[in-house]
Amino acid sequence: MRVCNILKDPRKLQPDYVPERLIHRESAVRTLLSKFDLCFENPSISTSGVVMGPSGAGKTALVKIVGRKIEQKSAQTGAKVKFVYASCCQERSYHQILLKLMKKVRPNFPERGHSPEELLRHLASVLSEEDMHIILCLDDADFYVNENKGPAIFYQLSRFGEYTGESRLSLITVIRDYKKFQKFLDSATRSSLQRWAIVMERYSFEELRDILWDRAQQALVEGTYDEQIIDFIAQRSSKEPIAGNARCAIVALGEAARMAESEGCDRIYASHVRTALSELNQPYYDYYPELQSTSEHERFLLLAIARYFKDNPDSVYATTGAIKEAYHVVCESYGVKPVGHTKMWQYLNNLAMLGLIEKQRGRYGRGMTSYIALIEVFDPEKLEEAVLKLLEGSGWR
Ligand SMILES: Nc1ncnc2c1ncn2[C@@H]1O[C@H](COP(=O)(O)OP(=O)(O)O)[C@@H](O)[C@H]1O
Ligand SMILES: [Mg+2]
Repeated sequence: MRVCNILKDPRKLQPDYVPERLIHRESAVRTLLSKFDLCFENPSISTSGVVMGPSGAGKTALVKIVGRKIEQKSAQTGAKVKFVYASCCQERSYHQILLKLMKKVRPNFPERGHSPEELLRHLASVLSEEDMHIILCLDDADFYVNENKGPAIFYQLSRFGEYTGESRLSLITVIRDYKKFQKFLDSATRSSLQRWAIVMERYSFEELRDILWDRAQQALVEGTYDEQIIDFIAQRSSKEPIAGNARCAIVALGEAARMAESEGCDRIYASHVRTALSELNQPYYDYYPELQSTSEHERFLLLAIARYFKDNPDSVYATTGAIKEAYHVVCESYGVKPVGHTKMWQYLNNLAMLGLIEKQRGRYGRGMTSYIALIEVFDPEKLEEAVLKLLEGSGWR
């Protein structure tokens, strides 16, 4: 029997819960929605833009809420404007994203046997035939903005209209690192992707307080929290290192509630908040979508990398050989079979693409080899903790 009950709806405190409304960002919702007014009037006119801002600024919540509103408006008015959301961390190939678009208009479209070029042509003609418009949101587009992968997807999608002479695809590109976006895309592509921009700022103390209060009302039993507790979390979260990241603030509230509950308290105390905040692994929440989207063996590899650097505090780089060894140890401890060299290589590349590690080529003895480094925001011990948590969450103990 549970003696006390603090959490009435824990799902509402999950970092990926999408709220009904975006507190203090109603104008961003209105602005983003209004960008597509013209598409509703004339589905052959497109408009593409960028949503940018730091982690936890509400970018994903914004685009998902606007996506809902677009679909509602289409249903109400009978307009043929569709919304497709794709997280680039999860949908890691261009092909996958194109298929998702295609399936939106032709649900039974076969998965295999089409090149990107063919898919694009096909999509353009279906949209034209049916007088439709698609708004594609590329969330976490940072994943695609780098030397070896990036430009193609942006280049081709931004020129989608050239297939039929009509422009029936609009893009919302959601980006955290705008400098990189500027650096890796040519100016023509960039300007067609960025007719407008919406900048999401870090949250202030007052804004965090209102967001937390609203979330507490939805997720916690009344009387188990008060103004003092909410203000305390908001105060700390508005300052470094959390620096206005709403995701961190909400997670801290959830952790404090869980702690209070497990200690059998009838409400959250300041001491729970203090512990929750001190245990908060902030870079982990900064890189939340990236870490969240890793596959099982990528997590094992990341754990191996974290442990290598924990055991070798003097090292900046590790050879791939050393990482492979550490990875085999991790696999053994979980009783799983390690993947072969080629696969491991591919996973390391994925981790580098996600921005979670850095890879470099360098001289090793007489030959060349690849070196792996952690990105500077990750502390090996905390990364280890975070990856262990993720693995636990997917059933690994
Ligand atoms: N203005 C807001 N009102 C309510 N909840 C918010 C607001 N901004 C962010 N959140 C919540 O904070 C968390 C992080 O927001 P998210 O949209 O994922 O940030 P980002 O995509 O910019 O990293 C989510 O749980 C989200 O629901
Ligand atoms: Mg996001």
